[in-house]
Amino acid sequence: MDVAGHTLPDSLKTDFCGLTLNSPLVLLSGCVGFGEEYTRVTGFSNRDAGAVCLKGTTLKARLGNPPHRIWETPSGMLNAIGLQNPGVDHVVNKILPTLDFSETRFIANVSGSTVEEYVEVTRRFDDSPIDAMEINISCPNVKEGGVAFGNDPEMSARVVAACRKVTHKPLITKLSPNQTDIAHNARRCIEAGTNGLAVINTLMGMAIDPKTRKPVIGNVQGGLSGPAIKPIALLKVHQVYQVARGHGVPIIGQGGITTVHDALEFLMAGAATVGVGTALFYDPLICKTLNAGIAEYLARHGLKRVAELVGRLDTGGGQLESCAAG
Ligand SMILES: Cc1cc2nc3c(=O)[nH]c(=O)nc-3n(C[C@H](O)[C@H](O)[C@H](O)COP(=O)(O)O)c2cc1C
Repeated sequence: MDVAGHTLPDSLKTDFCGLTLNSPLVLLSGCVGFGEEYTRVTGFSNRDAGAVCLKGTTLKARLGNPPHRIWETPSGMLNAIGLQNPGVDHVVNKILPTLDFSETRFIANVSGSTVEEYVEVTRRFDDSPIDAMEINISCPNVKEGGVAFGNDPEMSARVVAACRKVTHKPLITKLSPNQTDIAHNARRCIEAGTNGLAVINTLMGMAIDPKTRKPVIGNVQGGLSGPAIKPIALLKVHQVYQVARGHGVPIIGQGGITTVHDALEFLMAGAATVGVGTALFYDPLICKTLNAGIAEYLARHGLKRVAELVGRLDTGGGQLESCAAG
Protein backbone atom coordinates (compact mmCIF):
# COMPACT_ATOMS: atom_id res chain seq x y z
CA MET A 1 0.00 0.00 0.00
CA ASP A 2 1.32 3.47 -0.83
CA VAL A 3 -0.77 5.63 1.48
CA ALA A 4 -4.29 5.14 2.81
CA GLY A 5 -6.79 4.95 -0.01
CA HIS A 6 -4.18 4.97 -2.78
CA THR A 7 -3.45 1.32 -3.39
CA LEU A 8 -3.04 0.48 -7.05
CA PRO A 9 -3.25 -3.13 -8.23
CA ASP A 10 0.04 -4.78 -9.26
CA SER A 11 -1.41 -5.42 -12.73
CA LEU A 12 -1.08 -1.67 -13.43
CA LYS A 13 2.69 -1.64 -12.85
CA THR A 14 4.35 -0.61 -16.11
CA ASP A 15 7.98 -0.56 -17.21
CA PHE A 16 8.78 2.55 -19.19
CA CYS A 17 12.28 3.51 -20.39
CA GLY A 18 13.83 1.61 -17.48
CA LEU A 19 11.51 3.20 -14.90
CA THR A 20 8.89 1.20 -13.01
CA LEU A 21 5.63 3.14 -12.97
CA ASN A 22 2.78 2.27 -10.57
CA SER A 23 0.23 3.00 -13.26
CA PRO A 24 0.31 3.38 -17.06
CA LEU A 25 -1.25 6.85 -16.65
CA VAL A 26 0.94 9.90 -17.30
CA LEU A 27 -0.23 13.44 -16.45
CA LEU A 28 0.68 15.56 -19.47
CA SER A 29 2.88 18.60 -19.74
CA GLY A 30 1.13 21.96 -19.47
CA CYS A 31 -1.92 20.43 -17.81
CA VAL A 32 -0.50 20.00 -14.28
CA GLY A 33 1.80 23.02 -13.88
CA PHE A 34 4.89 21.89 -11.97
CA GLY A 35 3.20 18.99 -10.19
CA GLU A 36 1.29 21.12 -7.69
CA GLU A 37 -1.62 22.35 -9.86
CA TYR A 38 -4.32 19.99 -8.55
CA THR A 39 -2.94 19.22 -5.09
CA ARG A 40 -5.56 21.53 -3.56
CA VAL A 41 -8.38 19.44 -5.08
CA THR A 42 -9.76 17.14 -2.39
CA GLY A 43 -8.96 13.53 -3.26
CA PHE A 44 -6.31 14.35 -5.88
CA SER A 45 -3.02 12.51 -5.53
CA ASN A 46 0.02 12.35 -7.81
CA ARG A 47 0.20 8.69 -6.69
CA ASP A 48 -2.70 7.91 -9.02
CA ALA A 49 -0.38 8.66 -11.94
CA GLY A 50 2.60 6.55 -12.99
CA ALA A 51 4.40 9.74 -13.98
CA VAL A 52 3.83 13.49 -14.08
CA CYS A 53 5.25 15.61 -16.92
CA LEU A 54 6.11 19.13 -15.78
CA LYS A 55 5.36 22.29 -17.79
CA GLY A 56 7.65 23.04 -20.74
CA THR A 57 10.86 24.60 -19.42
CA THR A 58 13.30 26.88 -21.25
CA LEU A 59 16.74 28.22 -20.32
CA LYS A 60 15.45 31.65 -19.27
CA ALA A 61 12.05 32.55 -17.83
CA ARG A 62 9.31 33.24 -20.41
CA LEU A 63 6.14 35.31 -19.89
CA GLY A 64 4.25 33.50 -22.65
CA ASN A 65 1.78 34.82 -25.22
CA PRO A 66 -0.83 37.60 -24.93
CA PRO A 67 -4.44 36.55 -24.05
CA HIS A 68 -6.61 34.74 -24.90
CA ARG A 69 -4.41 31.73 -24.32
CA ILE A 70 -7.15 29.13 -23.95
CA TRP A 71 -10.42 28.72 -25.86
CA GLU A 72 -12.97 25.95 -25.64
CA THR A 73 -14.00 24.40 -28.98
CA PRO A 74 -16.45 21.60 -29.82
CA SER A 75 -15.04 18.54 -28.01
CA GLY A 76 -11.71 20.24 -27.55
CA MET A 77 -9.63 23.17 -26.49
CA LEU A 78 -7.25 25.56 -28.23
CA ASN A 79 -4.26 26.75 -26.25
CA ALA A 80 -1.38 29.09 -27.01
CA ILE A 81 0.32 29.57 -23.68
CA GLY A 82 3.68 30.26 -25.34
CA LEU A 83 5.74 28.20 -22.88
CA GLN A 84 5.30 30.48 -19.88
CA ASN A 85 7.76 29.17 -17.27
CA PRO A 86 10.22 30.46 -14.65
CA GLY A 87 13.35 29.09 -16.39
CA VAL A 88 15.30 25.90 -15.77
CA ASP A 89 17.41 27.12 -12.83
CA HIS A 90 14.30 28.13 -10.88
CA VAL A 91 12.65 24.78 -11.67
CA VAL A 92 15.73 22.79 -10.60
CA ASN A 93 16.61 24.83 -7.50
CA LYS A 94 13.23 25.96 -6.19
CA ILE A 95 10.53 23.64 -7.55
CA LEU A 96 12.06 20.15 -7.72
CA PRO A 97 13.01 20.23 -3.99
CA THR A 98 9.32 20.75 -3.13
CA LEU A 99 8.13 17.68 -5.08
CA ASP A 100 7.60 14.34 -3.33
CA PHE A 101 9.54 11.86 -5.49
CA SER A 102 8.13 8.95 -3.44
CA GLU A 103 4.66 9.67 -4.88
CA THR A 104 5.32 9.25 -8.60
CA ARG A 105 7.96 9.72 -11.30
CA PHE A 106 8.54 13.28 -12.49
CA ILE A 107 9.46 14.00 -16.11
CA ALA A 108 10.84 17.39 -17.18
CA ASN A 109 9.62 18.90 -20.47
CA VAL A 110 12.67 20.37 -22.21
CA SER A 111 11.88 23.24 -24.58
CA GLY A 112 13.91 25.80 -26.49
CA SER A 113 14.45 28.01 -29.53
CA THR A 114 17.87 26.69 -30.57
CA VAL A 115 19.65 23.34 -30.42
CA GLU A 116 22.06 24.89 -27.91
CA GLU A 117 19.18 25.88 -25.63
CA TYR A 118 17.72 22.34 -25.67
CA VAL A 119 21.17 20.99 -24.78
CA GLU A 120 21.72 23.43 -21.92
CA VAL A 121 18.28 22.77 -20.39
CA THR A 122 18.90 19.01 -20.68
CA ARG A 123 22.32 19.40 -19.05
CA ARG A 124 20.83 21.28 -16.08
CA PHE A 125 18.05 18.72 -15.58
CA ASP A 126 20.63 15.95 -15.83
CA ASP A 127 22.19 17.41 -12.69
CA SER A 128 18.89 17.15 -10.75
CA PRO A 129 16.68 14.44 -9.22
CA ILE A 130 14.34 14.44 -12.25
CA ASP A 131 13.52 10.87 -13.39
CA ALA A 132 13.43 11.47 -17.15
CA MET A 133 13.23 14.23 -19.73
CA GLU A 134 10.75 14.78 -22.52
CA ILE A 135 12.16 16.76 -25.45
CA ASN A 136 9.39 19.04 -26.65
CA ILE A 137 10.14 19.59 -30.33
CA SER A 138 6.44 19.88 -31.11
CA CYS A 139 5.14 23.02 -29.38
CA PRO A 140 3.04 24.89 -32.00
CA ASN A 141 2.87 28.09 -29.94
CA VAL A 142 6.37 29.55 -30.18
CA LYS A 143 7.97 31.29 -33.14
CA GLU A 144 11.33 29.48 -33.02
CA GLY A 145 12.24 25.91 -32.08
CA GLY A 146 9.22 23.82 -31.04
CA VAL A 147 7.25 22.56 -33.98
CA ALA A 148 9.68 24.21 -36.45
CA PHE A 149 12.17 21.54 -35.31
CA GLY A 150 9.63 18.77 -34.79
CA ASN A 151 8.24 18.96 -38.32
CA ASP A 152 11.67 18.44 -39.86
CA PRO A 153 12.97 14.89 -39.24
CA GLU A 154 16.61 15.91 -39.69
CA MET A 155 16.30 18.81 -37.22
CA SER A 156 14.43 16.53 -34.81
CA ALA A 157 17.26 14.02 -34.96
CA ARG A 158 19.85 16.80 -34.47
CA VAL A 159 18.15 18.01 -31.30
CA VAL A 160 17.82 14.46 -29.92
CA ALA A 161 21.43 13.53 -30.74
CA ALA A 162 22.74 16.74 -29.14
CA CYS A 163 20.68 16.21 -25.94
CA ARG A 164 21.68 12.53 -25.85
CA LYS A 165 25.33 13.55 -25.49
CA VAL A 166 24.72 15.38 -22.20
CA THR A 167 22.55 12.93 -20.25
CA HIS A 168 22.22 9.24 -19.41
CA LYS A 169 18.70 9.80 -18.04
CA PRO A 170 15.82 8.48 -20.17
CA LEU A 171 14.97 10.80 -23.07
CA ILE A 172 11.44 10.81 -24.48
CA THR A 173 10.88 12.73 -27.71
CA LYS A 174 7.49 14.38 -28.12
CA LEU A 175 6.42 14.18 -31.74
CA SER A 176 4.32 16.64 -33.70
CA PRO A 177 1.18 15.53 -35.55
CA ASN A 178 1.56 18.58 -37.83
CA GLN A 179 3.86 16.76 -40.26
CA THR A 180 3.59 14.49 -43.27
CA ASP A 181 5.25 11.29 -42.06
CA ILE A 182 5.38 10.95 -38.28
CA ALA A 183 6.73 7.38 -38.48
CA HIS A 184 9.77 8.54 -40.47
CA ASN A 185 10.44 11.24 -37.88
CA ALA A 186 10.10 8.63 -35.10
CA ARG A 187 12.67 6.43 -36.84
CA ARG A 188 15.18 9.31 -37.09
CA CYS A 189 14.69 10.18 -33.40
CA ILE A 190 15.24 6.52 -32.42
CA GLU A 191 18.43 6.42 -34.49
CA ALA A 192 19.52 9.63 -32.72
CA GLY A 193 19.18 7.94 -29.34
CA THR A 194 15.74 8.64 -27.90
CA ASN A 195 14.58 6.04 -25.32
CA GLY A 196 10.87 6.76 -25.65
CA LEU A 197 8.36 8.67 -27.78
CA ALA A 198 5.39 10.83 -26.82
CA VAL A 199 2.67 10.73 -29.50
CA ILE A 200 1.08 13.27 -30.11
CA ASN A 201 1.36 16.94 -29.20
CA THR A 202 -1.50 19.28 -30.18
CA LEU A 203 -2.71 19.95 -33.73
CA MET A 204 -2.58 23.53 -35.01
CA GLY A 205 -5.96 25.26 -35.05
CA MET A 206 -7.74 28.61 -34.99
CA ALA A 207 -10.95 30.33 -33.84
CA ILE A 208 -12.41 33.66 -35.04
CA ASP A 209 -14.85 35.99 -33.27
CA PRO A 210 -17.32 37.10 -36.00
CA LYS A 211 -18.29 40.19 -33.96
CA THR A 212 -14.79 41.64 -33.96
CA ARG A 213 -13.52 39.70 -37.02
CA LYS A 214 -10.42 39.01 -34.95
CA PRO A 215 -8.73 35.74 -34.07
CA VAL A 216 -9.81 34.69 -30.60
CA ILE A 217 -6.36 33.45 -29.62
CA GLY A 218 -3.82 36.21 -28.93
CA ASN A 219 -1.21 34.21 -30.84
CA VAL A 220 -3.71 33.85 -33.77
CA GLN A 221 -3.17 30.07 -33.86
CA GLY A 222 -3.20 27.57 -31.05
CA GLY A 223 -2.80 23.88 -30.34
CA LEU A 224 -5.97 21.81 -30.42
CA SER A 225 -6.31 19.11 -27.75
CA GLY A 226 -9.09 17.03 -26.20
CA PRO A 227 -11.54 14.43 -27.60
CA ALA A 228 -11.68 16.22 -30.99
CA ILE A 229 -8.17 14.94 -31.80
CA LYS A 230 -8.49 11.41 -30.41
CA PRO A 231 -8.97 9.47 -33.67
CA ILE A 232 -6.01 11.29 -35.23
CA ALA A 233 -3.82 10.64 -32.20
CA LEU A 234 -4.77 6.97 -32.16
CA LEU A 235 -3.74 6.52 -35.80
CA LYS A 236 -0.43 8.34 -35.19
CA VAL A 237 0.32 6.00 -32.27
CA HIS A 238 -0.49 2.99 -34.47
CA GLN A 239 1.81 4.31 -37.21
CA VAL A 240 4.70 5.13 -34.87
CA TYR A 241 4.34 1.75 -33.10
CA GLN A 242 5.09 -0.04 -36.39
CA VAL A 243 8.56 1.57 -36.27
CA ALA A 244 9.17 1.78 -32.51
CA ARG A 245 8.28 -1.80 -31.52
CA GLY A 246 11.23 -3.29 -33.42
CA HIS A 247 13.59 -1.09 -31.37
CA GLY A 248 11.87 -1.71 -28.03
CA VAL A 249 11.11 2.03 -27.77
CA PRO A 250 7.94 2.63 -25.72
CA ILE A 251 5.30 5.26 -26.49
CA ILE A 252 3.27 7.59 -24.25
CA GLY A 253 0.02 7.61 -26.25
CA GLN A 254 -1.97 10.83 -25.86
CA GLY A 255 -4.55 13.06 -27.43
CA GLY A 256 -8.11 13.31 -26.18
CA ILE A 257 -8.16 10.44 -23.69
CA THR A 258 -11.13 10.90 -21.35
CA THR A 259 -12.50 7.40 -20.73
CA VAL A 260 -11.35 3.86 -19.91
CA HIS A 261 -12.40 2.90 -23.44
CA ASP A 262 -10.05 5.58 -24.88
CA ALA A 263 -7.12 4.42 -22.73
CA LEU A 264 -7.62 0.78 -23.79
CA GLU A 265 -7.69 1.82 -27.46
CA PHE A 266 -4.33 3.60 -27.14
CA LEU A 267 -2.75 0.61 -25.35
CA MET A 268 -3.97 -1.74 -28.09
CA ALA A 269 -2.66 0.64 -30.77
CA GLY A 270 0.82 0.29 -29.25
CA ALA A 271 1.15 2.83 -26.43
CA ALA A 272 2.95 1.43 -23.36
CA THR A 273 1.55 4.27 -21.25
CA VAL A 274 -1.33 6.68 -21.78
CA GLY A 275 -1.37 10.42 -21.18
CA VAL A 276 -4.14 12.48 -19.67
CA GLY A 277 -4.13 16.23 -20.30
CA THR A 278 -7.21 18.23 -21.25
CA ALA A 279 -9.51 15.81 -19.39
CA LEU A 280 -7.93 16.95 -16.10
CA PHE A 281 -9.34 20.45 -16.64
CA TYR A 282 -12.87 19.22 -16.04
CA ASP A 283 -12.18 16.10 -13.98
CA PRO A 284 -9.00 16.35 -11.89
CA LEU A 285 -9.84 12.98 -10.27
CA ILE A 286 -10.16 11.13 -13.59
CA CYS A 287 -7.08 8.94 -12.94
CA LYS A 288 -8.97 7.01 -10.24
CA THR A 289 -11.67 6.06 -12.76
CA LEU A 290 -9.14 5.19 -15.47
CA ASN A 291 -6.94 3.07 -13.16
CA ALA A 292 -9.94 1.14 -11.86
CA GLY A 293 -11.33 0.58 -15.35
CA ILE A 294 -8.03 -0.61 -16.86
CA ALA A 295 -7.43 -2.97 -13.92
CA GLU A 296 -10.95 -4.34 -14.25
CA TYR A 297 -10.48 -4.97 -18.00
CA LEU A 298 -7.18 -6.78 -17.40
CA ALA A 299 -8.73 -9.00 -14.71
CA ARG A 300 -11.77 -9.78 -16.87
CA HIS A 301 -9.53 -10.86 -19.75
CA GLY A 302 -7.10 -12.89 -17.61
CA LEU A 303 -4.19 -10.49 -18.25
CA LYS A 304 -1.63 -10.06 -15.46
CA ARG A 305 0.09 -6.89 -16.71
CA VAL A 306 -0.77 -3.86 -18.84
CA ALA A 307 2.16 -4.86 -21.08
CA GLU A 308 0.18 -7.91 -22.25
CA LEU A 309 -2.30 -5.55 -23.91
CA VAL A 310 0.20 -3.21 -25.59
CA GLY A 311 0.01 -3.41 -29.39
CA ARG A 312 -2.51 -6.28 -29.22
CA LEU A 313 -4.62 -4.79 -31.99
CA ASP A 314 -6.30 -7.30 -34.23
CA THR A 315 -6.24 -5.73 -37.69
CA GLY A 316 -7.78 -8.88 -39.17
CA GLY A 317 -4.95 -8.94 -41.70
CA GLY A 318 -5.76 -5.40 -42.86
CA GLN A 319 -2.79 -3.30 -43.97
CA LEU A 320 -2.20 0.38 -43.35
CA GLU A 321 -3.10 2.38 -46.42
CA SER A 322 -1.32 5.66 -47.03
CA CYS A 323 -4.35 7.27 -48.66
CA ALA A 324 -7.66 7.74 -46.86
CA ALA A 325 -10.63 5.65 -47.91
CA GLY A 326 -13.69 7.59 -48.82
C1 LIG B 1 -2.96 24.29 -21.73
C2 LIG B 1 -2.00 23.32 -22.34
C3 LIG B 1 -0.63 23.54 -22.22
C4 LIG B 1 0.29 22.64 -22.79
N1 LIG B 1 1.63 22.85 -22.61
C5 LIG B 1 2.52 21.94 -23.09
C6 LIG B 1 3.92 22.09 -22.85
O1 LIG B 1 4.38 23.01 -22.17
N2 LIG B 1 4.76 21.15 -23.36
C7 LIG B 1 4.30 20.08 -24.10
O2 LIG B 1 5.10 19.27 -24.56
N3 LIG B 1 2.97 19.91 -24.33
C8 LIG B 1 2.09 20.81 -23.83
N4 LIG B 1 0.74 20.62 -24.04
C9 LIG B 1 0.27 19.45 -24.82
C10 LIG B 1 -0.18 18.32 -23.89
O3 LIG B 1 0.90 17.89 -23.07
C11 LIG B 1 -0.73 17.11 -24.69
O4 LIG B 1 0.32 16.58 -25.49
C12 LIG B 1 -1.90 17.47 -25.59
O5 LIG B 1 -2.75 18.39 -24.95
C13 LIG B 1 -2.72 16.26 -26.05
O6 LIG B 1 -3.31 15.57 -24.97
P1 LIG B 1 -4.80 15.87 -24.41
O7 LIG B 1 -5.72 15.89 -25.58
O8 LIG B 1 -5.09 14.76 -23.44
O9 LIG B 1 -4.74 17.20 -23.72
C14 LIG B 1 -0.19 21.51 -23.50
C15 LIG B 1 -1.57 21.30 -23.62
C16 LIG B 1 -2.47 22.18 -23.05
C17 LIG B 1 -3.95 21.91 -23.18
